[in-house]
Amino acid sequence: MRNLRGGLAASAFLFLAVSVPAQTTDPLAVGRQMLAEDNPGELWIEKGKTLFYEKRGPRGVSLEQCDFGRGPGKLEGASTQLPRYFPDTDKVQDLESRLVSCMVQLQGFKREDVIRRAISPGGSSGSDMEALALYITSRSNGMKINVSLNHQKEREMYKAGEYLFFRRSGQTDFACVQCHGDANKRIRLQDLIHMTTKQGVQEVVSTWPAYRGAHYVVRTMQWRLYDCFWQMRLPELAYASDVSIALTTYLQYQGNGAVTRVPGFKR
Ligand code: HEC
Repeated sequence: MRNLRGGLAASAFLFLAVSVPAQTTDPLAVGRQMLAEDNPGELWIEKGKTLFYEKRGPRGVSLEQCDFGRGPGKLEGASTQLPRYFPDTDKVQDLESRLVSCMVQLQGFKREDVIRRAISPGGSSGSDMEALALYITSRSNGMKINVSLNHQKEREMYKAGEYLFFRRSGQTDFACVQCHGDANKRIRLQDLIHMTTKQGVQEVVSTWPAYRGAHYVVRTMQWRLYDCFWQMRLPELAYASDVSIALTTYLQYQGNGAVTRVPGFKR
């Protein structure tokens, strides 16, 4: 799956890291602003909408009966409360793992097929999952992230995510916090978002799915975590795995109160 990192890094984009809020002292801020105003990711919203309402899969049904926590087909505000516990699957699910469940249970797709195609190759026209995740999240634009930890399993996921964020592991002995726990850190020209501040983590959770300039496609949080695992030389992060959902639960809860505005624009 190494090719998922997308070898198509367009040099123009490498100098336009779009991952931190514009600061007046930041020389890249102007470029970021220009890109954000003309975000190609917008095109994926329509694509996702079409996919959502289209009758698809072996059973030939749409996703309108899929319940993201606010009732079947009710998308407004749904992503702001994810991840959350779902009694039907008896699991805490993020948006993408919930979509997998619905595509399998309602539409009759094979789980391994959905997962294999979920992250598209760089430079492609993108996957169904990427478009659907963006469309659904865009229905919450302007709404505040509001993840709750009322259910015991939600609290356990949060705790696991917190543990994973700070734990050093693997051959390089890296923890997330080493790259994302300080202000103004960079790898090459890429800003490393400072996620242990409220402002930093809110910037993160409000802007995914995002258009990834270097890959010319919309990317999701599952991809982002997959890629950071790769950077840490950890075993490949399984798509929609509990590990990924634990980290997302931790980050989303930390970011509560941030106003959703997708698609984000990342370098
Ligand atoms: C070796 C350094 C490194 C480690 C360790 C690391 N990351 Fe990252 N992370 C990056 C880089 C580089 C980027 C992308 C910056 C860019 O493209 O502008 C990034 C981006 C991110 C983003 C997206 C930020 C945004 O722009 O919205 C998230 C979320 C993230 N990392 C989560 C994690 C988590 C969770 C872990 C631990 C499992 C982790 N990272 C470990 C280097 C790292």
